[in-house]
Amino acid sequence: MSRDPLVITIGERTLALQSGDITKVPANAIGNAANSALRGGGGVDGAIHRAGGPAIMRELDAIRERIGKCTPGDAVATGAGDLPARWVLHAVGPIYRDGRHGEPEALASCFRRCMELAGELGARSLTLPAISTGVYGYPLDAAADVAVRTVVEILKAPETRLRRVTFVLFGKAPFEAFQRASNRLLGPTP
Ligand code: APR
Repeated sequence: MSRDPLVITIGERTLALQSGDITKVPANAIGNAANSALRGGGGVDGAIHRAGGPAIMRELDAIRERIGKCTPGDAVATGAGDLPARWVLHAVGPIYRDGRHGEPEALASCFRRCMELAGELGARSLTLPAISTGVYGYPLDAAADVAVRTVVEILKAPETRLRRVTFVLFGKAPFEAFQRASNRLLGPTP
């Protein structure tokens, strides 16, 4: 399923779109689409825990002890266990209702928090899944617009320490939705 990444240069930094399994794409930090209980699940959450191993859940157990739960729009960081990364950023996306109950703002906040956490940790590269577009039902094109707009805005900020952000899309439909969103925002990709 994986194909060459689509690479877009943004000043000194890079935004890439890649189709494939996020657990197989090396990066300093990997974003996860978690739930507020931080208890793992299916989808990309399941894939990350399967590939990363039990060390990740042990860290989430300690975080849950401390904070109870992670609210939609926020994210917490753990180590990455056996994944090709140093950290996993567990973001909790909004459950989509109709787009008029704060979903766009909460989804944008997920990507913002992942990039903030990555910067605080000193990560230079970050991969992100299409948060909320699976079980949580967020329509792909609407989610892609929010995701690309939020990440591009932060990549353009001079103080951002990240050098490269890659959206890793699980299949043709999400890849093409993100490609359309980046074309709309940044002009046609080569
Ligand atoms: N790599 C990259 N993307 C993936 C992978 C993978 N290995 N597996 C699934 N995806 C994609 C899905 O196709 C979808 O586009 O991740 C996107 C997000 O889908 P979900 O994983 O279902 O996440 P979300 O919609 O945010 O729902 C979160 O699902 O798994 C549970 O514990 C999780 O309760 C939480 C809820």
